[in-house]
Amino acid sequence: MSKRVIPLIDQRSYVPREGLIRSHAELEPFVNSNGLLADRLGRPLHDLRISVTDRCNFRCSYCMPKEVFDKDYAYLPHSSLLSFEEITRVARLFAAHGVRKIRLTGGEPLLRKNLEVLIEQLAALRTVDGLPLDLTLTTNGSLLARKAQALKAAGLNRVTVSLDGLDDAVFRRMNDVDFPVADVLAGIEAARAAGLGQDGTGAGLKVNMVVKRGTNEQEILPMVRHFKGTGIVLRFIEYMDVGATNGWRMDEVLPSADVVKLIHAKHPLIQLDPTVAGETAERWGFADAAGRHDKAAGEIGVISSVTQAFCQDCNRARLSTEGKLYLCLFATQGHDLRSLIRTDASDADIESAIGHIWQGRSDRYSELRSTMGPDTTTLAPGQRRVEMSYIGG
Ligand code: GTP
Ligand code: 5AD
Ligand code: SF4
Ligand code: SF4
Repeated sequence: MSKRVIPLIDQRSYVPREGLIRSHAELEPFVNSNGLLADRLGRPLHDLRISVTDRCNFRCSYCMPKEVFDKDYAYLPHSSLLSFEEITRVARLFAAHGVRKIRLTGGEPLLRKNLEVLIEQLAALRTVDGLPLDLTLTTNGSLLARKAQALKAAGLNRVTVSLDGLDDAVFRRMNDVDFPVADVLAGIEAARAAGLGQDGTGAGLKVNMVVKRGTNEQEILPMVRHFKGTGIVLRFIEYMDVGATNGWRMDEVLPSADVVKLIHAKHPLIQLDPTVAGETAERWGFADAAGRHDKAAGEIGVISSVTQAFCQDCNRARLSTEGKLYLCLFATQGHDLRSLIRTDASDADIESAIGHIWQGRSDRYSELRSTMGPDTTTLAPGQRRVEMSYIGG
């Protein structure tokens, strides 16, 4: 069967040029009904995810398989990384465009030296409404027990911990570096004790579990039992075809609908409204005997980017470790902001470049994928998707 090739994103890197748009007013044709910057599908820019390192001490097979990310793998040299000052400058300019949430990711962000210093700088930024940003971080939890207090003191609001099972043998197999589950659970406890679960907005500590059919699906119910009633929101993520190295196969995806059905049979669930527009997770609350949401028991979430794409409201931009701006998790190319920063561009230049790039965005990879059969590809010859460890989850 011939392969259907769909060009996914604009392949051009951003090239500074004369006559850049310099103010929100001049961006008028591309603002949405709230007067804020919007992309070509009318989606606002709300969420900036910043990868602070492309390294990780785990080798989860769905993200950094050992065979590829071995001792010879060429990680980015230190000089390529954006410095904390460069990250903060770019983040401030994103905030001026309407960004309200910043998530630090990696790789494993807690491997970046002195991360608290960056957090302090980001915590001082304000949204266009003069409010602090929702400042959060995704971590594998391995260093959290040691660092939770310092992260909170630096101004981090909350954390999301990745945890793919409770059974020690299963967990060690998932992380593929023989890391014990007890240490991650201790990290989650330390985060809670440090106050990284209560930020005043109702959103708290979250645990993300990637489900691979045939590998860790038996951990779903034990995970539910463990976190139910703790206030921690457990979310199940469909295994995605992100990057180019994980050997993804559709038959290893356990659809979220099956996950919900499995849990519902033991712990009745009712669907909850989204908290904010563009949320990745669909929310399900534990039901009481009367079929109402039992708030003390809490809720779970499912993130279904394979079976139920959520591109329609996608308001997330991603800044790679070396300062490239990616408009989709499944992109093959980014826009080089670092070269702009390092060639003495003014704040106004960088801000208008960001506006330009966002206005040109029409990415919706997961939606496109869901319209195709198993024998199709969205990649043109020679294209390769970036790895999630490089642009951040
Ligand atoms: P909260 O603000 O805590 O709700 O965070 P979030 O759900 O926006 O971010 P989080 O990093 O917890 O996302 C959970 C997982 O969802 C990620 O690890 C990815 O697997 C997936 N995910 C997040 N954003 C996207 C996205 O834009 N597209 C796709 N396809 N998947 C995403
Ligand atoms: N599918 C789904 N989620 C993934 N992550 C990494 N790789 C994948 C994948 N192939 C996400 C997980 C993990 C976070 C760091 O990145 O949510 O918790
Ligand atoms: Fe590391 Fe997270 Fe990727 Fe696992 S999923 S290899 S913990 S970055
Ligand atoms: Fe956004 Fe791309 Fe994910 Fe769709 S696939 S939700 S456009 S990051």
